[in-house]
Amino acid sequence: MNSEKKITIAIDGYSSSGKSTMAKQLAKTIGYRYIDSGAMYRAVALASMRAGLVSPHKEPDVDGITALLPSVDIDFEVTCDGQNTLLNGENVEAEIRSLEVSSCVSPIATISAVRHALVKMQRDMGLSKGIVMDGRDIGTVVFPDAEMKVFCDASAEKRAARRFKELSDKGASVTYEEVLENVKTRDYTDETRDESPLRCAPDAVRLDNSEMTIDEQNQWLLNLYNEVLASL
Ligand code: CDP
Repeated sequence: MNSEKKITIAIDGYSSSGKSTMAKQLAKTIGYRYIDSGAMYRAVALASMRAGLVSPHKEPDVDGITALLPSVDIDFEVTCDGQNTLLNGENVEAEIRSLEVSSCVSPIATISAVRHALVKMQRDMGLSKGIVMDGRDIGTVVFPDAEMKVFCDASAEKRAARRFKELSDKGASVTYEEVLENVKTRDYTDETRDESPLRCAPDAVRLDNSEMTIDEQNQWLLNLYNEVLASL
C-alpha cells in the first residue's frame, strides 16, 4: 500500500444525502483538504439574491448574474469544527444554509457561466491532489480522473428528515413538508439541467445510506479509501 500517495476523492450525490458529513470526516481522518462545492454554488446564489437578481419567487436574471460573477470572490476558512464559507471576505456559512438560499441555488447552478467559473476554481483547488470534494458533477466533470469516486443516495423522505432536523436544531422555522418539497425540486432541477446534470459516473461506487448511521457511513468510506490506496 502506498500511504504516501495523495489522490483525488470525488463524492457526488443527491441533495442532503450525507455526502458532506462523510466527506468532511474522511478528509479530517486522512489529512486531506475538504471542499464543499455546493457551498460555492450557494455563495453565488446568495450574492445574486442580495443583488436582486433571483429570489424564491423570481427566475434568475442570467445576464445580470453573468455580469456579477467577476465581483464574486469565494474562499474557505478552516475552523476547529469544520469550515466557513467566505463571500468577498464575509463569513456567510450560516446564511447560505437557509431554505431561501436552498430554493434559489439549483436554478443558479443551471447557468453555464456560473458552472464554468466555479468548475475552473474547483480544478485549481485540486491541482496538488490530496483533496476530498463533494457535489453533483465532481466525478463526472470536475475531476473525471479522480482515483476514488462515490455516488451517494438515500430515499427523499430520509434525506428531508435529516435536513429538517439539521435546520430545526439551528433554530430555523421550517416544516418537514417544505424541506421535502425543496429536496425533490432540487433533485429534479439537478438531474434535468442541460449542463453537467447530476449523474453517477460509470466508475463510481454507489452508496445508499438510507439505513446507515453517520458512524457506519464514515467507516464505509474509510474502508473504501484504504482499498483504493492498496490497489494503486
Ligand atoms: O448539501 P446539499 O445536498 O443540500 O446541497 P449542496 O451540496 O449544498 O448543493 C446545493 C446545490 O448546488 C445543489 O442542489 C445543486 O443545484 C448545486 N450544485 C451543483 O450544481 N454542482 C455541484 N458540484 C455542487 C452543487
